Amino acid sequence: MVKKTSSPSLSSTKVSRREALQLTVGAVALTGLPSETAAATGPSTSATPRVTVALTVNGTTHTLDIDPRQSILDVLREKLDLSGTKKGCNQGACGACTVLVDGRRIVSCLTLAAMHDGAQIQTVEGLESNGALHPLQQAFIDHEGLQCGFCTPGQIMSGLGCISEGHATSPEEIKFWMSGNICRCGAYPGIVAAVADAAGRG
Ligand code: FES
Ligand code: FES
Repeated sequence: MVKKTSSPSLSSTKVSRREALQLTVGAVALTGLPSETAAATGPSTSATPRVTVALTVNGTTHTLDIDPRQSILDVLREKLDLSGTKKGCNQGACGACTVLVDGRRIVSCLTLAAMHDGAQIQTVEGLESNGALHPLQQAFIDHEGLQCGFCTPGQIMSGLGCISEGHATSPEEIKFWMSGNICRCGAYPGIVAAVADAAGRG
């Protein structure tokens, strides 16, 4: 049961608590977000157009019917059940959602899936091979580059990008080129050591 309010949009129909929160948070957030991200926060309606995209994720191609406002992050987590990629800020500020798209690291929360038809996407779920961890995953364990682990998938995917870009030749360089990936646990020394180690192993 929803309390009636003076707002015409909420008083005229029953709105679930989740929908009401989305409307409220969306209205507050819209003022400070880029236009394409702001659009993506709105609720879907039956009138929302759909688009079909083909995304190859960790080597498997998926043809998907999506809301054109959906981010790659939401498509990964909600349509493909790949929850390894984390949603932290959902505003491009923390790096928790980092994945590789066509070999380049991007923050997937700010990247519209509809604009990447045909893309090759790599997520943390695709790194292990025949039960063996990727060398960078193993390096994170060896150097204790994590505590709670929430930021870790994004750190690892960003670390892969950092190495392939040739930006991992020194701890200072790694710190600079990984600076978009925030770790609230402060595991930075281990993260830097892990990326440097994996770069050396490559
Ligand atoms: Fe994408 Fe924070 S969730 S940058
Ligand atoms: Fe906890 Fe990085 S390990 S946020």
